[in-house]
Amino acid sequence: MNIEYRRPTKEEWPLFGKAVSRGFGNHPPTDDRSVERWEMFRQALSPVGAWDGDQVVGTSGSFVSETTIPGGAKLQAALVTIVTVAATHRRRGILTNMMRRLLEEAHERGEPISTLWASESIIYGRFGFGMAGQHHDSTIMSEKGVFTHLPEMSGSVHYADRARIREIGPDVWTRTAAVHPGMPQRSPGMWQGDMPLPEAESKPEDRRFYGVYEENGKAEGYVSYQTIDKQFGMGESDLHIKEFIAATDVAHAALWRFILSIDLIEEVKFGTMQVDDPLWWMLSDPRQLKRVPYDAIWLRLLDVERALSARMYSKPIDVVFSVDDEFCPWVEGNYRLTADPSGKAECRKTEDTPDIVLPAASLATCYFGSVKFSDLARAGRAVEKTAGALLQADRAFAAEREPWCPLHY
Ligand SMILES: CC(C)(COP(=O)(O)OP(=O)(O)OC[C@H]1O[C@@H](n2cnc3c(N)ncnc32)[C@H](O)[C@@H]1OP(=O)(O)O)[C@@H](O)C(=O)NCCC(=O)NCCS
Repeated sequence: MNIEYRRPTKEEWPLFGKAVSRGFGNHPPTDDRSVERWEMFRQALSPVGAWDGDQVVGTSGSFVSETTIPGGAKLQAALVTIVTVAATHRRRGILTNMMRRLLEEAHERGEPISTLWASESIIYGRFGFGMAGQHHDSTIMSEKGVFTHLPEMSGSVHYADRARIREIGPDVWTRTAAVHPGMPQRSPGMWQGDMPLPEAESKPEDRRFYGVYEENGKAEGYVSYQTIDKQFGMGESDLHIKEFIAATDVAHAALWRFILSIDLIEEVKFGTMQVDDPLWWMLSDPRQLKRVPYDAIWLRLLDVERALSARMYSKPIDVVFSVDDEFCPWVEGNYRLTADPSGKAECRKTEDTPDIVLPAASLATCYFGSVKFSDLARAGRAVEKTAGALLQADRAFAAEREPWCPLHY
């Protein structure tokens, strides 16, 4: 089997799009707007395809987005997307070859980290990605959403349309992203709907309702949702939150109160709830909020020195990590991380003896600060060589907020 790996040409782009849709069990949309948006996406994407003769048998790509890391700084991340391999060519190493090329190209462009959403949690660990952030798939019966605690609110929620969300969204998103490790920026093209992924509303049933929380004329948060009719218009519907972006705690509480005040709703579902969402603490009967955790943010470190030097640390640290990395050999090596009491750090390659030995995926898992090195060691995913090093690393890497990624790509 002679498979060629390369970027699709402009002429091949529609065929490439067809393979992406088929890989996820869809037919490609043919309306003019979708075709135009797919073409716009080409300009933002660094794709890698696999060809068997003139057939597209593998698709993948990444686009760059500034992503927040603990302490509030941002790193250019390669967001990996549209990964598919044709069922006719499965388990012959095509994904492996595409991933190698994607990650090498991202490294050459100087992107120090890469992130993705995984359709199955079995796929990406072998490529050095670690599960770096969980989300909650959550459900609550609307009638059980009774509050005992709410912060003081001086503003109010208003219904809005998509045009208004495009107007206020970028500022609200950027302010929200500043506190959430793992949250990428959304490009202007995405806000305008020129890129097909996040705001796709091509089918009538995808149409959303919007609410905006404002204080003194300034938007502080918004929510978008759909209602799914359960009884042919004769009774209650379920409400699915599609996006919930709040730049302040007050906006967050106000939008939850709005959602749980909507009439004729049986269940409210929110698939991408933050693990530290305070709704639980606002309810009179918290157990009514059903939360199922799942792996949401997968992270790959492509430049350990830059990634570890750029984030802030909660406690001083002086530890040498030995990082194993067969898939991206330039990452492999020993790294000394030192941080002072202000939280600022330096990370450099070293020949010094390691205190902790671990694979690249484990270091990535702990990077956003929501997973402890000691927990990974107990699972056999890291080894302590110097007593106390794991505890030191646990304390230093702890972050103020849990990672969160409301952008699905
Ligand atoms: C996931 C997918 C891209 C894998 O492609 P592939 O070319 O078959 O993967 P490879 O042959 O490179 O697999 C590499 C290794 O991962 C394993 N692997 C890959 N996908 C796997 C899966 N879904 N389940 C179990 N093992 C898997 C392979 O068995 C192989 O293991 P080995 O090295 O021990 O032999 C393909 O199955 C697919 O298109 N799935 C549907 C779309 C999808 O889920 N895409 C991912 C979006 S995040």
